[in-house]
Amino acid sequence: MAENNSINTAFSAGTDKTRALASLQKWTKERELKQGARPLAFVHSYGCQQNVSDGEKIKNMLSSAGYAFTDEPEKAQLILLNTCAVRENAEDRVFGNIGDLKKLKEQRRDLVIGICGCMAQEKHVAEKIKESYKQVDLVFGTFAYGEIYEMLWKVISEGRRVFNQDDTCTEIDEDMKQLREDKLRAFVPVMYGCNNFCTYCIVPYVRGRERSRKPEAVISEVSGLVEQGYKEITLLGQNVNSYAYGFPELLRAINEIPGKFRIRFMSSHPKDATKELIDAILECEKVCTHLHLPVQAGSDRILKKMNRSYTVEKYMSIIDYARSKRPDFSFTTDLIVGFPGESYEEFCQTKDIIKRVGYNNIYSFVYSRRSGTPAAKMEDSISDKQKGLWLRELLLEQREITSARFAKFLGKEKEVLIEGPGRTGSDYLTGKTDENIIVEVRADKKYIGQFTRVRIVKTMNWALEGEVIE
Ligand code: SAM
Ligand code: SF4
Ligand code: F3S
Repeated sequence: MAENNSINTAFSAGTDKTRALASLQKWTKERELKQGARPLAFVHSYGCQQNVSDGEKIKNMLSSAGYAFTDEPEKAQLILLNTCAVRENAEDRVFGNIGDLKKLKEQRRDLVIGICGCMAQEKHVAEKIKESYKQVDLVFGTFAYGEIYEMLWKVISEGRRVFNQDDTCTEIDEDMKQLREDKLRAFVPVMYGCNNFCTYCIVPYVRGRERSRKPEAVISEVSGLVEQGYKEITLLGQNVNSYAYGFPELLRAINEIPGKFRIRFMSSHPKDATKELIDAILECEKVCTHLHLPVQAGSDRILKKMNRSYTVEKYMSIIDYARSKRPDFSFTTDLIVGFPGESYEEFCQTKDIIKRVGYNNIYSFVYSRRSGTPAAKMEDSISDKQKGLWLRELLLEQREITSARFAKFLGKEKEVLIEGPGRTGSDYLTGKTDENIIVEVRADKKYIGQFTRVRIVKTMNWALEGEVIE
């Protein structure tokens, strides 16, 4: 295939988009008539909820162009991997998957393979794919979703490879809708990008600066979802506390939308977390009394090197305020083990903070060097093997904390939103409490999608077990 890197100048206006969409629609229709079914696309999103939400927008655009969807890449005429760049192992997995697709491409030359998302925004990744993974036809980053019709049509009609790593920030396109598979729980982005530049993190480089959606657009989207029967709305942003129009106000406005549903949100940066945020959570009955508040480390020296802009004491003041108002306020967090220069003693301070807070759950990761970030140049003498052992130590500590916290639920009545089949056995269903704790319930399928009162009768490492209270 020939190569084309000038897509950004080749397509300039909305008319190009309209023309490309019309051409794609005609092409998919012809395919449908010929093969008896719409051409199939396989779209897989890796990484965080924001990326999953982007994947849903991409699927909506592909659906408008005439594609249907499959979970089996072997059956697809278009394979699109929507990637994550946050840690090296996430990137390695994608390269492994791209390698596996080579055979499929050899068998079917008309198969289109695309890579998009955070990894595809990195210029060195795009270069590597251009040179070494010739089976890939299309590579576009997080700023280029709106140009998908033009890019795809160029690949299909001209047989060219297209690379688009443009990083020009454009206005948020409020007309981009999502094609959601889940009919109960929906992700709703309230802002995009990140201004914080934590020294370890690639996200600001691949997602650009913060852009907030207008409150009216968010409120109208949530109202529509509630009308459709959605029972849980998760508001998304890399740091919802810097939402330009005021996040506590947004929570209050969404809480006013009529109907029975839950409101969650993530992530919340501790440097901007305020008492007003906690007050809003507690005042709004639809907002879950659970806060995901990523602390990353328990040492002030390491937090400074991470550019997190808060100290352990400032972090604890938010926790203490919330617990003074609601003693069972629940918290979860993200932690990085083995940041460059972290000593064992400093790592032990991370173990201390998880005990002090008493998280329900933690999401902990061994530090991964991301090229282009300031931390990648910092001296790092601890081996990955040693860091892996620290991570295990941390997880063992958390296991004790989780089991002590879970024990407090025994015998209590909880409201659980039942989501679907459980893991414990074929007669079990699974759901979550307000605190986002998994509850397995032996119950009839009629409860799926319902807020159900249960009594907690058992605790496990990873979940609670409850019985329906009729
Ligand atoms: N914006 C969110 C915040 O600041 O809390 C976090 C978003 S980030 C996509 C999710 C988590 O990945 C971070 O909280 C951090 O713990 C982890 N993470 C980010 N970069 C990392 C790296 N280079 N190595 C290991 N973990 C990393
Ligand atoms: Fe990354 Fe920090 Fe931004 Fe979160 S706040 S996305 S950790 S740079
Ligand atoms: Fe999310 Fe990974 Fe990108 S965590 S923002 S998909 S780098």
